[in-house]
Amino acid sequence: MEIIDVRECRDIEEVKKRLIPAAKSIKNGDLVVIPTETVYGLAGDCFNVSAVNKIFLVKNRPYSDPLIVHISNFEQLKSIVKSLPEEAKRIMDNFWPGPVSLVLRKSPNVPDIVTAGLDTVCVRMPELDITREFITQCGTLLAAPSANIFSRLTSTELQHILKYFKDKKEVKYAIYAGRTKYGVESTVIDCTTKPLRVLRYGAVEVEKIARTCKVEIVEPKRVYKKKSAPGMMKKHYSPAKITYLCRDLIKYIRGLSKDELKRITFLCSNKAKEEILKFVKNDISVIPYGDSLEEIAQNLYLCLHLAEEMDTEFIVIQVPRRVGLGKTIYDRLVKASSNRWV
Ligand code: TXA
Ligand code: MG
Repeated sequence: MEIIDVRECRDIEEVKKRLIPAAKSIKNGDLVVIPTETVYGLAGDCFNVSAVNKIFLVKNRPYSDPLIVHISNFEQLKSIVKSLPEEAKRIMDNFWPGPVSLVLRKSPNVPDIVTAGLDTVCVRMPELDITREFITQCGTLLAAPSANIFSRLTSTELQHILKYFKDKKEVKYAIYAGRTKYGVESTVIDCTTKPLRVLRYGAVEVEKIARTCKVEIVEPKRVYKKKSAPGMMKKHYSPAKITYLCRDLIKYIRGLSKDELKRITFLCSNKAKEEILKFVKNDISVIPYGDSLEEIAQNLYLCLHLAEEMDTEFIVIQVPRRVGLGKTIYDRLVKASSNRWV
């Protein structure tokens, strides 16, 4: 895998030039790691069944889990979608390009392998101009799940991509554009039902979409018990270490012995870290994830990767409040921990 670092480019013209070999390899049916504003993606030509098959094989992803098709302009929708409900149009007008993915009725052009045999397709137009430029250059549309091995942590930085794909021959290039802006995946809305349904909490708050577009969007009551959508299995996005969630981290840490403390890496707000360091002086591993919900979302996977790499046995994570973007963070944390609590 060769890395194309587009951060060094002076302007979009230079970016375009640098992307040429990667666009060629997409046309040849190979895979490319692409940056987006949410997380990195593992992209292949969505109309090339053998390329899409490589995505599933490289990721070790079950064929029952459908992929998102990434587009760079509205015109392209016609080639993959059969019909466009009024509500979906309003969401596109307000949030595209941006981190909102919409499930729509698919046209027969979209190979079944992309959609796991469903009669719907999930579509997104990324906010990051480099991603849209790349799609346009490829001259096709890109099926791209998050760039991680199935059930492992998502990638928001170059070292994560290298960790998973460095030696995979199917992945020819990784386009590196720095750390991703939002840090969590796009919000997924099912537009084939009335009212619309949230299938995955993500980078844009559901309330904001509903309010701005004046649409009703039903939120799942118990996401983790009922398997209502393919991507909603309980275990997902996990660190390779036993992980627990905690509501009152300060109280929990106060109750631990010195020996117990040494075996855990803690993830918490900057504020909580300061508080903890007031009464535990040393021999404690604490990774701060920020204070605002935006910061926490942006740092979430990065902190989980760091915690996974620490020389400790367990991870214990302070859970932030569950409003707005906090619902997305809560969803990812419950999945990362398989809903284990201390
Ligand atoms: O931000 C993102 O969405 C990133 C970047 C790379 O674009 N992509 C991403 O893809 O997170 P992935 O494959 O990791 O997650 C896609 C989610 C899965 O939960 C999948 O089940 C759901 O979208 N999905 C895809 N097609 C669907 C469909 N036709 N019906 C219901 N859910 C679908
Ligand atoms: Mg994923």
